[in-house]
Amino acid sequence: MCGIVGYVGSKEVVPVILEGLRRLEYRGYDSAGIAVGTEGQATLSVRRAPGKLRNIEQVLRDHPLHGTYGIGHTRWATHGRPTEENAHPHRDCTGRIVVVHNGIVENYLELKRELTAQGHVFVTETDTEIIAHLIEQIQKESSLQKESSAHSETAGAPSFDRSVGQGWVPTIPLEAAVRQAVKRLTGAFALGVLSSLEPDKIIAARFGPPVVLGIGEGEYFVASDVPGILHHTRNIVFLNDGEMAILTLGGVQITDFEGKSLPVKPQRILWDPIQAEKGGYKHFMLKEIWEQPRAIRDTTLGRISLDSGQVFLAEMGLKPEDLAQATSINIAACGTSWHAALAGKYIIERLARLPVEVDYASEYRYRGPIADPNALGLLITQSGETADTLAAQREMIALGSKTVAICNVVGAMITRDASGTIYTHAGPEIGVASTKAFTSQITALFLFALHLAQVRGQLTTAESMALVEELSRIPTKIEEMLKRISAQCEELARSFSHARDFLYLGRGIHFPIALEGALKLKEISYIHAEGYPAGEMKHGPNALIDETLPVVVLATQDHTDSGSRLRYEKTLSNVQEVTARSGRVIAIAVEGQEDIAQLVEHVISIPKAPELLLPLLEIVPLQLLAYHIAVRRGCDVDQPRNLAKSVTVE
Ligand code: G6P
Repeated sequence: MCGIVGYVGSKEVVPVILEGLRRLEYRGYDSAGIAVGTEGQATLSVRRAPGKLRNIEQVLRDHPLHGTYGIGHTRWATHGRPTEENAHPHRDCTGRIVVVHNGIVENYLELKRELTAQGHVFVTETDTEIIAHLIEQIQKESSLQKESSAHSETAGAPSFDRSVGQGWVPTIPLEAAVRQAVKRLTGAFALGVLSSLEPDKIIAARFGPPVVLGIGEGEYFVASDVPGILHHTRNIVFLNDGEMAILTLGGVQITDFEGKSLPVKPQRILWDPIQAEKGGYKHFMLKEIWEQPRAIRDTTLGRISLDSGQVFLAEMGLKPEDLAQATSINIAACGTSWHAALAGKYIIERLARLPVEVDYASEYRYRGPIADPNALGLLITQSGETADTLAAQREMIALGSKTVAICNVVGAMITRDASGTIYTHAGPEIGVASTKAFTSQITALFLFALHLAQVRGQLTTAESMALVEELSRIPTKIEEMLKRISAQCEELARSFSHARDFLYLGRGIHFPIALEGALKLKEISYIHAEGYPAGEMKHGPNALIDETLPVVVLATQDHTDSGSRLRYEKTLSNVQEVTARSGRVIAIAVEGQEDIAQLVEHVISIPKAPELLLPLLEIVPLQLLAYHIAVRRGCDVDQPRNLAKSVTVE
């Protein structure tokens, strides 16, 4: 949600910033803007445009900017409509200070009233604009204080130059003013601040949303996420909450909000910037669907022993007794991660025999959860910065629980207060609709469940070995399946892309996959879709069925598992209820399942696997179907309207 890129160095700044913003556009694409410092000019030059980045690129072609330092922003609108006026960067009254911001200033109305009373004039509907005015006010007050003390002490000329700007010049540097300003803000912010009075300088501050710094040779970068600057440097510093950075041509300094100097510790990022490129695919989403075998393999790597069946998850930071004494698991997550959590409930309860509760992170606090220090909290989040998930984590900790995060972004917010983190190694996911992060999360949950089951003595070595081996086979199975079913999914999309509604049905662990399939379709194709437990159809949704309604049914089974066979038989009855009412069924079934093929119009077959691992396979055709339908409908697959990849507001 909102992307920031800033640069100080000797290159032309506009291409550097635009390139960075392009890589961060997944964070928001309601509007974009850029501020550039040009030597000898009293104000910073700003260009802004509503809509996607290509609009600001056009503005910059028509009205070019030149300079060697500046800051850019791509916005996901929270306060104020996505107009040019509300696009960042925002300015103070003098036009000397510009601010870009990711997050929400919760007390902005109160500050706005205060600043308005002090004579500040606001021209936008945003919360961000108050930050620019607040910094201006702080600098102005410092200047006036100095003026009055200079007058009283020397009765001579004031120590500042009245000829500049609005009749005063700051007597404290920008970083000092920003430091005072951030202490007055409540809410969440990642900030980039520039002043034309202090050329070649960017101040960055973080409280909540991420900020990374790039250390190059004689050039320094700031961004909301690594892909925004990875093309220029692999030496990255992750700014912590409550820290500020001062970037100048001389280097980077980091302080806390009190001004205490902190060490600058760059980490070398090893992943290839190409991972954040489309690499010949038409869309990031398609590339990320195809990357799933690699992502699952990497998430498993080094964590399992095929010889002993053991799962190693020391990174959870928990003692075996914490796991042995756990009375239950509470999982909180949002969106696709919530669907992974729901699938995780089935896996954990089945393998570790421990009760699991799953909450929407945005609901967790409001149901008055009951404190139980032996309940373990599990937060699932691709980005690690979803505000609702962070709030749920705080609540769990306040209730005395230890928390573990399952997260895809190293050093993300959620990892800070967690006892430990099971990282999914999906690599950067750029498509707003999550795909490889989802299957990596289920993989991590499977590992977690196995580990828990082993610590709690719920699995024999032979059972562990069999499950670990089956897990290790999944990536190859997905590879083969992708090659086999891609054209079929594209073909099905041709038949179904005009549908107005879709239903997705599943039972047991396949119900969360039905939910995820429906979410994929609605978020990228804008077709209304609902996931439903297959057995609940008769309690309402059957009324919707007619010959225009496509119904996608997860009709897979594990022949070796009696529970799975029973579930399958019941699902088959539900399929018959749909076909009897002329509904058009697309069934996802395992290879060789002939009975379903005789019943329905279309079958997509997937490889055989144990019941608890089938979700990793059956979601893939649903992702492909949604993708091809969205493409046929001409939708913006990677950047669907009104959405953003990481949602840092509650
Ligand atoms: C947004 C994204 C979804 C994602 C959800 C939770 O809505 O568009 O793809 O599933 O946030 O994000 P998280 O980073 O916490 O997994």
